[in-house]
Amino acid sequence: MNLKQMVGIEAAKHVTDGMIVGLGTGSTAYYMVEELGRRVKEEQLDIIGVTTSNATEQQARALNIPLKSVDEVSHVDLTIDGADEISSNFQGIKGGGAALLFEKIVASNSNKNIWIVDESKLVENLGAFPLPVEVIPYGSQQLLNLFEENELQPKLRLIDGESIKTDSGNYIIDLHLESIDDSALKPLSSWLNALPGVVEHGLFLDIVDTVIVGREKGPETIGA
Ligand code: A5P
Repeated sequence: MNLKQMVGIEAAKHVTDGMIVGLGTGSTAYYMVEELGRRVKEEQLDIIGVTTSNATEQQARALNIPLKSVDEVSHVDLTIDGADEISSNFQGIKGGGAALLFEKIVASNSNKNIWIVDESKLVENLGAFPLPVEVIPYGSQQLLNLFEENELQPKLRLIDGESIKTDSGNYIIDLHLESIDDSALKPLSSWLNALPGVVEHGLFLDIVDTVIVGREKGPETIGA
């Protein structure tokens, strides 16, 4: 079993009958969704899933996990998702898979958030992983220019030479910041949020409650 699978299965143990569960996106969350699908089928686990991307929706549908959209539920009990980086202060960068917008909406409406990662994702300060910023196509070149002027090392994310399109039809600009001081996280988040054309960014601040880390010797749970 690889470390991603290990933490995916471990996190699924936090899901119990009657829960409304946010289903994250990415190669680690994939294993958690598979495990929930197995439990729905074999243990008649009774849950409603709220997906965070088209990819996860497809996977969950194929596993016959009952689904509702975030707008059809009063709340989400627990969301389990991956992350790209987690700092020692439990702040995170997400969006490597371009699903940050729905991920942040579901996470923000969840009573509890668990992130599942292998140990390579734990860092002292955020920033070595490029910070994704989701922007609408109109005006995106102006945002690229602005980020360039502010020395944020922006790069439009491409696939096969074309701008990638998120599930909402937007672009992603990755900011190559190398290291973000902890005290700069909230000002950076507020600055980005206030820019016209920016839809969301991948700084997930004060969101996660529990991190499950995959280690060779077994999963380690940190936090509440
Ligand atoms: C998707 O946009 C991301 O936020 C993922 O949750 C994150 O990139 C972690 O993905 P992996 O588990 O594939 O590393």
